[in-house]
Amino acid sequence: MGTRTQVGIVGGGPAGLLLSHLLARRGIDSVLIEIRSREYCEARQRAGVLEDGSVALLREAGLADRLDRQGLVHGGIYLQFDGQRRHIDFRELTGGRTVTVYAQTEVVKDLIARRLADGGALEFSVTDTAVDDLDTDRPVLRYTDAAGNRHEVACDAIAGCDGFHGICRPAIPPGLLTAWERDYPYAWLGILADVPPSTDELIYAHHQNGFALHSLRSPTISRLYLQVEHNEDIAAWPDERIWAELARRFGLPGWTLQQGPILDKSITPMRSFVSAPMRFGRLFLAGDAAHIVPPTGAKGLNLALADVAVLAPALDGLLHGNDKPAAEYSATCLQRVWRSTHFSWWMTTMLHRRPGADEMEMQLQLSQLRYTVSSRAAATSLAENYTGFPLTKE
Ligand code: FAD
Ligand code: DHB
Repeated sequence: MGTRTQVGIVGGGPAGLLLSHLLARRGIDSVLIEIRSREYCEARQRAGVLEDGSVALLREAGLADRLDRQGLVHGGIYLQFDGQRRHIDFRELTGGRTVTVYAQTEVVKDLIARRLADGGALEFSVTDTAVDDLDTDRPVLRYTDAAGNRHEVACDAIAGCDGFHGICRPAIPPGLLTAWERDYPYAWLGILADVPPSTDELIYAHHQNGFALHSLRSPTISRLYLQVEHNEDIAAWPDERIWAELARRFGLPGWTLQQGPILDKSITPMRSFVSAPMRFGRLFLAGDAAHIVPPTGAKGLNLALADVAVLAPALDGLLHGNDKPAAEYSATCLQRVWRSTHFSWWMTTMLHRRPGADEMEMQLQLSQLRYTVSSRAAATSLAENYTGFPLTKE
């Protein structure tokens, strides 16, 4: 079946979904294809922290009704190390900036509901996706829909929003991309637990046994993470072992970690990856398709949203005879990408125990942590990076 659209979007994660909405507000039509089912996309447990700029973007796009009602505004985080838990006060250090705890699952649900209500073309559970003719002004998107019909969509541009393992980045001829990559020798085991959080704000804990993070999803649901070994088998972590290890790493006299039924359990590898440029001809990459950060700085989701905030006006320009914003798209995004890549690497290496690390490395981490909580300059640096920098305006 041959059809036509202005922008073909590959991937129905936060980047692809928000892009289709931002384009629709500019009167630009798109077809979005996603290999997973709607239910799968809405249930996939991932990030939970939105920067101020991401909240403002969603609000300006008319997508923040539920976010404004249910998002939990946090004015800081705790850093725990060496038997102490110290607060970093974002509001005070940055002139009022905050972050909002609102799960990626909810962002995705809100976006899908809105696109469907607006009559957007979203195709879930597709197979055999392909992109072609990227260096012409009529690139093509091909896929088979859930009913088994093959489609060929002629586009003006294609947005590769298909995550790290997608097909768009590999469709760029070898030799035209430069990639920078770092794997970390550990992973995160994440749980969602049916228990009220034991903390009012997130706790990032450095411990002899490894890093731990206490986050939350609502006043009744906790989200917690433990550093585990690279390639760890989840079967090695029955619920009792997870709770015992979390209690050990967060342990402080007079404070108790509340425990409850575990609703979801998964292991996430840790990687830094940047590939540039984020464009080849009429293919534009956005979000995890172009870059990955380790989750310690809570940046992945925010970067995906920031990319498409730049991409929507760039595509609008391209489709209406102004090539300049599209020409600048990659360089504009990469500045933020590299800042977040550095911050995420810094938080990760300061807080995790590297297998084989000696006592010297541990002492250097502790010194960095003490400095971060005791120097206003160092604390401000963490606070402004964590809460994020203003979004590039159209
Ligand atoms: P994605 O959300 O990955 O969306 C890409 C979409 O493309 C997916 O729905 C995928 O099914 C689809 N797709 C793939 N291939 C194709 C194809 N060929 N055709 C069509 N569709 C395709 N960040 C944090 O800040 N904190 C966290 O705790 C955190 N945890 C994470 C845990 C995991 C397991 C992962 C993978 C990521 C995590 N992240 C976290 C990162 C954050 O979730 C991502 O940065 C964010 O999802 C990026 O959004 P995206 O839209 O670019 O990509
Ligand atoms: C969450 C995830 C993160 O990676 C992080 O740094 C903070 C919070 C979360 O899932 O809530």
